[in-house]
Amino acid sequence: MVTKRIRQITAANESLLSFLPMWEEHRLEPDTANFAFGNPQEMVVHGFASALARATEPLDKDHYAYKFSEAGSRARVARHLGAWRDQEFDPEDIAMTPGAFGAIAVALTALVDVGDEVVYSDPSWFFYRSMILSAGATPIGVQVQPDNYDLDLDRLAGAITDKTRLVIVNTPHNPTGRIYPPATLEDLAAVLTDASDRYGAPIYLLSDEPYSKLVFSDATFSSPSRWYPHTLISYSYGKILLTPGQRIGWLAWTPSMADRESLRSAVFMAQIAGGWQFPSAIMQYSLAELERLSIDLLELERKRDWFVSELGAAGYDLRPPEGTFYLWVRSPDPDDVVFVERLAKEGVLVLPGTTCGSPSHFRVSLTGTAEMIERSLPVFRAAI
Ligand SMILES: Cc1ncc(COP(=O)(O)O)c(C=O)c1O
Repeated sequence: MVTKRIRQITAANESLLSFLPMWEEHRLEPDTANFAFGNPQEMVVHGFASALARATEPLDKDHYAYKFSEAGSRARVARHLGAWRDQEFDPEDIAMTPGAFGAIAVALTALVDVGDEVVYSDPSWFFYRSMILSAGATPIGVQVQPDNYDLDLDRLAGAITDKTRLVIVNTPHNPTGRIYPPATLEDLAAVLTDASDRYGAPIYLLSDEPYSKLVFSDATFSSPSRWYPHTLISYSYGKILLTPGQRIGWLAWTPSMADRESLRSAVFMAQIAGGWQFPSAIMQYSLAELERLSIDLLELERKRDWFVSELGAAGYDLRPPEGTFYLWVRSPDPDDVVFVERLAKEGVLVLPGTTCGSPSHFRVSLTGTAEMIERSLPVFRAAI
């Protein structure tokens, strides 16, 4: 009854699926310090709900008609991106999607054929493998550098074959918090250009950037789109607003993209055939207001500095993240799942590294509150 593809996808997320019952068991207990996922642990940012409420009022008969990428949304994103990135973007090269999830799914459908290979880096966000498999392609994971979590370009170059159609890079990187520096991105562009020339067709780069506004004050963010012409960027508003349950984001590429007219229609058809991968009317109408909102980045940085220094003082091995809202910590027990279970029994929920393809670590989400951090510190100290 179940398809082979869904069996493969389920197997790719086995470790996440086996973590969920533990998470369900503890997450609603009143004293749980919940750092498992990038979910809000306090009330939504002020102005979000009222922006959505205003956008519900119908202005004409088409207010709730089927929505594609609305012209207003595309123009706004192109303008905003152009100013932010100092790179030109054409509104026609912006596809509005239900978050980065939708943007990644659409890029895979538009660019990847059954049997193609998609290279991504490990550790990684836990759904790349499933999404690549869902597109009928083969996921090829490449380890990042173990010391500083930078891309390992020799390994990446070695993983590219004549079947490679797409490479996915995620910066700022979930789970390590690494932001790839310009020199790495420039070298990445050289590797991809070289491989594209060798195989006679562009290898596309999907730069997955949902955390590109979650950058700490001691770091700067660069997108590979600056160096590699065949880059598509996926983005989500769900991170900067910490509202992952309301879906809006985009997929964008610059005018340097090869064959961009065909890509526009391919992405459009991929959005339709992929199950109407457009954000809802309300999300598109409220975009102007949403773009002015943000979670408190100073508070996030304070939590990072405090948590990193406390965990470090307790003997944990971790690097301060440059972006995202995650800490990536070496597990004192070689079995990360055993260690995570031990913490969970004491009321502290973190994510085992195996879910991200790395059993040696666990991930802590800084979306937990300051009170949760305070409560968790004795547990972390005792567990090590
Ligand atoms: C690296 C990465 N890409 C994509 C996504 C999907 O983001 P969204 O749910 O906002 O679409 C996430 C969410 O955690 C992520 O961490």
